[in-house]
Amino acid sequence: MPSAPRHVAIIMDGNGRWATSKGWPRLVGHRKGAERVKEIVRAAPDLGIEWLTIYAFSTENWKRSTEEVLGLMGLFQRYIQREAEGLSAEGVRMRFIGDRKRLDTKLQDLMAWIEDRTRGNRKLNLTVAINYGGRDELVRAMRRLARQVADGSLDPEALDEAALDGALDTAQIPDPDLVIRTSGETRVSNFLLWQAAYAEYEFTPTLWPDFTPEILSDILLRFQGRDRRFGGVKP
Ligand code: FPP
Repeated sequence: MPSAPRHVAIIMDGNGRWATSKGWPRLVGHRKGAERVKEIVRAAPDLGIEWLTIYAFSTENWKRSTEEVLGLMGLFQRYIQREAEGLSAEGVRMRFIGDRKRLDTKLQDLMAWIEDRTRGNRKLNLTVAINYGGRDELVRAMRRLARQVADGSLDPEALDEAALDGALDTAQIPDPDLVIRTSGETRVSNFLLWQAAYAEYEFTPTLWPDFTPEILSDILLRFQGRDRRFGGVKP
C-alpha cells in the first residue's frame, strides 16, 4: 500500500458560498476559513504530512470587491501576527509563493519576518500561496532564466526541467503528491501547474469552512488506495 502523501496542496474553496448561505457577508466565511487553516496545520503532522501548501489568494482574486480584497489582506496579516508564536511552538516552517511586489509593504515585511523566524523549524513545511498564479509564476521564472541567457551566465542548451524547476517560487519545495479542492468545483484554477504534473487530485463537496481533519484523513486513506505509476507500468 502506498504511503501517506508527503506533500498535500489544498485549494480552499467555498468560503463565500458558506457565508452567503447563512445570510452573512463573504468575509465571515474567510474568517471561518482562517480558523480551519489553523486546525488543519495543527493536524497535518499526525497525518504524516510533511509539506502543506494552501492557495490563499490567486492572481485573479484582485477582481473581487475592494472590501473583500482588503479584508483578505487583513486576515493574512493577522494570521501571521497572531500565529507566529504558535507556529514556532509547533515546529512549523512558513513560506510564501506568489508575486509579492503587488502586496502592501507591511504585509511583505511580515511575510519575510515569519519566514525568517520559522526557518529552523522541521515538523511541517507550510507554504501559503498569495498573489499566486501558476502561469504568472512560469512567466516570472522564464524571465529570470532569459536574463541569465542574455547576460551569458546560462547556456540555452543547458536549460532543462531542473533549471526551470529551480527558477520557480517553489524551488526549495518538492512537488505535491496530492491536490485537494473543496466546495465541489473540479477545476485546477492556475494552481501549481508545473509542479502538479504527476499529482493525484481529490475533490470534495465540503465547503472550506466546514472542512475538518477527519475529512482530510478520509481523503488521505483514499489516496493510499490509488496506484501511482508516474507514466510507467506496474511491475
Ligand atoms: C475561496 O473561496 C477562498 C479564498 C479566495 C480565500 C482563501 C482564504 C482563506 C481560507 C482565509 C485565510 C487564509 C490564511 C492563510 C490565513 P471563495 O471566496 O472563492 O468561495 P466561493 O467560491 O464560495 O465564493
